[in-house]
Amino acid sequence: MRYISTAFKGRNRTSLNLLALWCLATWAFLYWATTLFFTRPPDPHHWAELRRSQIPRRIWQIQLPMPESIPASGIRREAHTLSWLRQNPHYTYTRLGTDDAREFIQTHYADRPEYLETYEALQNPALKSDLLRYLLLAAVGGVYSDLDTKALKPIDDWVPEPYKPHARLLVGFEWDQRDEKAPKWFTYPIQFQQWTIAAAPGHPLLHGMLDYVFVQLQNLTSVHNTTLDSLQFTDEEIWTATGPRAWTETIWRYLRDHEGLGNLTDLSRLQEPRLLGDVLVYPINAFGSGQIHSGSYRWLTPKDGLVKHYFDGSWRVQM
Ligand SMILES: *[C@@H]1O[C@H](CO)[C@@H](O)[C@H](O)[C@H]1NC(C)=O
Ligand SMILES: *[C@@H]1O[C@H](CO)[C@@H](O)[C@H](O)[C@H]1NC(C)=O
Ligand SMILES: *[C@@H]1O[C@H](CO)[C@@H](O)[C@H](O)[C@H]1NC(C)=O
Repeated sequence: MRYISTAFKGRNRTSLNLLALWCLATWAFLYWATTLFFTRPPDPHHWAELRRSQIPRRIWQIQLPMPESIPASGIRREAHTLSWLRQNPHYTYTRLGTDDAREFIQTHYADRPEYLETYEALQNPALKSDLLRYLLLAAVGGVYSDLDTKALKPIDDWVPEPYKPHARLLVGFEWDQRDEKAPKWFTYPIQFQQWTIAAAPGHPLLHGMLDYVFVQLQNLTSVHNTTLDSLQFTDEEIWTATGPRAWTETIWRYLRDHEGLGNLTDLSRLQEPRLLGDVLVYPINAFGSGQIHSGSYRWLTPKDGLVKHYFDGSWRVQM
């Protein structure tokens, strides 16, 4: 045996190499041939769908420089971003950094120079990121989602078929009080999350939100008798000025004044998305699964889950 293996060693290696090469070439050819035969042409039904939907095919994410004290969970973030790209191959994906954000506001809000001024004056990345998402969606629309979210379903499948021609703003809860005791800071029986929001451009609720944020910021500077750029916000002030409390307040006012919603508790225990005017409100599991409250589906991915939020808590100031 030993004799044979030594004698054939040289030739053996050559033929093995040739065999490997041949396999590789065959595989490449078959792969190419398969793509020729099995790649489906763009589905006309799919394009018709897209035209029916009011939400532009854009995904926005924001990555502003964070204080060094925050551990960067870079790897998971990239995996999350991939989930958005994979689920939505027909969408434009944009991740805005510092310069892109400035450019965007300059371009789209040239007639409102105070927007850029305010945005630049804010020092806290959480506040900037909050404000920026409202500015993005109000101007050009699309889907905004935080970096610590994973896409569970293609965006084209988010809106139930009959609502597609009507829904121009998609919002969801993070908290539904039900029979529970409200935690500190929770002012409403329902709290809307603002880690994922989708909108058609120019939705009046988003413009209302921008007005609300600017009033709040103005108020805080006068309460603290200081300028915006030297203001140190507490977590609760962020919550109230640009965060979920501000967002909930704005949605509540809008639905009350324009869509005749009597009480936010009317939305409690929602099981299916509910369209109020052109605002589509999703139940807790759409964006808020995996929580220990609000009737959220806790362990596995719920059937009606659209996005999974990982609560990396990047909005906090004391980081
Ligand atoms: C202004 O801010 C203070 C402190 O956060 C708050 O108590 C007050 O209600 C605010 N006023 C308005 C009009 O929002
Ligand atoms: C506000 O601050 C300015 C200077 O920063 C000071 O002169 C003024 O007295 C302060 N006003 C109040 C009400 O504290
Ligand atoms: C909404 O309903 C809750 C409970 O049914 C009630 O306590 C609350 O006062 C209502 N709020 C408004 C604004 O009517």
